[in-house]
Amino acid sequence: MQFRHLMKLNLAGLMLSVVFSVSVQAAVDASAKKADVKAVVADKVVEKNSAEKIVNTVCAACHTPDGNSVITLNPKLAGQHPEYLEKQLTEFKSGKRANAVMSGMASTLSDDDIKSLAAYFSSKKLTLGQAKTNGAGSLGEKIYRGGIAATNVPACAACHGATGAGLPKQFPRMGGQHADYVQAQLKNFRTGERTNAPMMMAIATKMTDAEMAAVADYIQGLR
Ligand code: HEC
Ligand code: HEC
Repeated sequence: MQFRHLMKLNLAGLMLSVVFSVSVQAAVDASAKKADVKAVVADKVVEKNSAEKIVNTVCAACHTPDGNSVITLNPKLAGQHPEYLEKQLTEFKSGKRANAVMSGMASTLSDDDIKSLAAYFSSKKLTLGQAKTNGAGSLGEKIYRGGIAATNVPACAACHGATGAGLPKQFPRMGGQHADYVQAQLKNFRTGERTNAPMMMAIATKMTDAEMAAVADYIQGLR
């Protein structure tokens, strides 16, 4: 009798502990799920902040925090298509686009950093510029809109757009870019110092210094 009583108690205890452990497990599962969700949300926040953090600690010195660089050999990044920015950073990192300064900067960036930095600068508002002498009716405008027939240079507008807005995923935004930077890139395409754009290399090899200077000045004021 006493023995049976003990068995019953034990059985009840066993059942209780089964119920208890099941519910503990459920609670553990639920809190793990919550933790997962929290981790994902935290990652997103960290990602957003990390682009801003990298910009403020590294990029801003040369490109300013909003990507409208004031030093004219440093390109404006504001409003540029994210795919283009991503391509350039990836190619600085791999060495496909050679530049001592930017290759060093890009070498420490992860693919995620590159994506979020491209999105960050792309979302900023571009500050427009002014042409020095190549306004309406100038040589710069003629080259940009009509190309140079004698040497088979195509119109820049054909790819970079009438207002210089470019085409997402294909052609970079050009309007408002610093003339000094544009001219330097055209020269780099011509000498082969920049080799990551065969289309532009073919075009630049057919241009003189004076033509490059004129179209770069026009581009600075383009909108
Ligand atoms: C010490 C100055 C300096 C710093 C810091 C710097 N850059 Fe640059 N960046 C340059 C220069 C100069 C160029 C032009 C390179 C060339 O002539 O090919 C450039 C070019 C670029 C380009 C190519 C733009 C185009 O229109 O093709 C991108 C994108 C870029 N930088 C992003 C960044 C990011 C992101 C950071 C921060 C991680 C950064 N840069 C930090 C000086 C700098
Ligand atoms: C057939 C299309 C095409 C035409 C025409 C064209 N471009 Fe380009 N251009 C491109 C592409 C594509 C790139 C992007 C290169 C890359 O991905 O690195 C580019 C890039 C550039 C860059 C570098 C931009 C930067 O931020 O570093 C400059 C400068 C440029 N083009 C100037 C011109 C000028 C000036 C003309 C007219 C004389 C012209 N392009 C005509 C396709 C074209």
